[in-house]
Amino acid sequence: MNPNGYQQLLVTGGGGYVGSALVPALLDAGYRVRVLDTFWYGKHVFGDYAKRPELELVELDLRDSKRVGEAMKGVDAVIHLACISNDPSFELNPNLGKSINYDCFAGLVDGAVNAGVKRFIYASSSSIYGVKEEPDVREDAAPLPLTDYSRFKLDCERDLLARTDVRGMDRVIIRPATVCGYAPRLRLDLSVNILTIHALVNHKIRIFGGKQLRPNLNIKDMVRAYLTFLAAPSAKVDREAFNVGFQNLAIEKIAFLVRDTIGDQTIELEYTPSDDNRSYHVNSDKVKRVLGFEVQYGIEDAIQSIVDAYRAGKIPDPFKNTLYSNIKRMQELRIS
Ligand SMILES: NC(=O)c1ccc[n+]([C@@H]2O[C@H](COP(=O)([O-])OP(=O)(O)OC[C@H]3O[C@@H](n4cnc5c(N)ncnc54)[C@H](O)[C@@H]3O)[C@@H](O)[C@H]2O)c1
Repeated sequence: MNPNGYQQLLVTGGGGYVGSALVPALLDAGYRVRVLDTFWYGKHVFGDYAKRPELELVELDLRDSKRVGEAMKGVDAVIHLACISNDPSFELNPNLGKSINYDCFAGLVDGAVNAGVKRFIYASSSSIYGVKEEPDVREDAAPLPLTDYSRFKLDCERDLLARTDVRGMDRVIIRPATVCGYAPRLRLDLSVNILTIHALVNHKIRIFGGKQLRPNLNIKDMVRAYLTFLAAPSAKVDREAFNVGFQNLAIEKIAFLVRDTIGDQTIELEYTPSDDNRSYHVNSDKVKRVLGFEVQYGIEDAIQSIVDAYRAGKIPDPFKNTLYSNIKRMQELRIS
């Protein structure tokens, strides 16, 4: 039972990478879940969970504010994940990206407010900080988004916090690091996942640059974090932003971990110089201090989960199957 009394959740983008791991965990925790998604990656991602009466799949575009408002009926808490979720797919068509990632955001929040939603959890991104010199980027660091994807994440954060009409709805902002590990809707356009699959399939890992630090987070911890934010008392999370990340690792170090986890030192590491030497170093002490949330799963566990899934035949055709790549799938569906 949720300590705040929440029973009915609405997860936008619940058919995506994070959602496909999160939604089953929410159902297992006893919530009723309504997923609002265009389902670009299919509904099969829910497997047998799709048969559960507590799961409702609502095929709907976020930009249809009227129907989105209707879908909010009876909802206690919203987790807003849906968006064009990386720079390359956003840049395929910046107008489309803006229409989904920013323009319809106010309508979504209106729908939540009008329906009496009690908590609105917004999935922002640690990329809003841009590149920082300091070794520990905390939540109060001045944001410096470098791309439109990051800029609109920040704009949504600001708009959400600026609203004065929220009628007791908690507003919680999460800034996750880059997520990794296996999920039913797998993304192979994320660093740890792609390095692992290259090592498994091609016996080679291509490293661009290599020394840049990137914050990472095991998808199992991402899921645990959302469960924690749903259960947290209002006084601790309302109008707060939280970094959620774990190991800040150089790309080269991730490649070493991949090789060690697979247990094959003959996997070749091929170095390619890169102009992109930007490092991101995110500090996630606040979520531990305020909510006692600590990560439990490291990057090795995420790598192992990809290895296990691949060996079990759960990642067929990793380079040709467009479902693993946001940009390829959007091109295929002519969404751009
Ligand atoms: N995956 C990461 O590493 C990471 C890191 C930081 C932040 N985030 C944030 O977490 C959230 C989830 O990321 P993800 O990796 O699961 O993304 P994803 O691309 O796998 O999933 C996005 C989902 O949104 C849906 N969607 C897109 N446009 C829609 C629209 N107009 N209407 C309804 N549904 C729509 C898609 O069909 C998809 O199921 C995103 O907001 C992302 O920015 C992710």
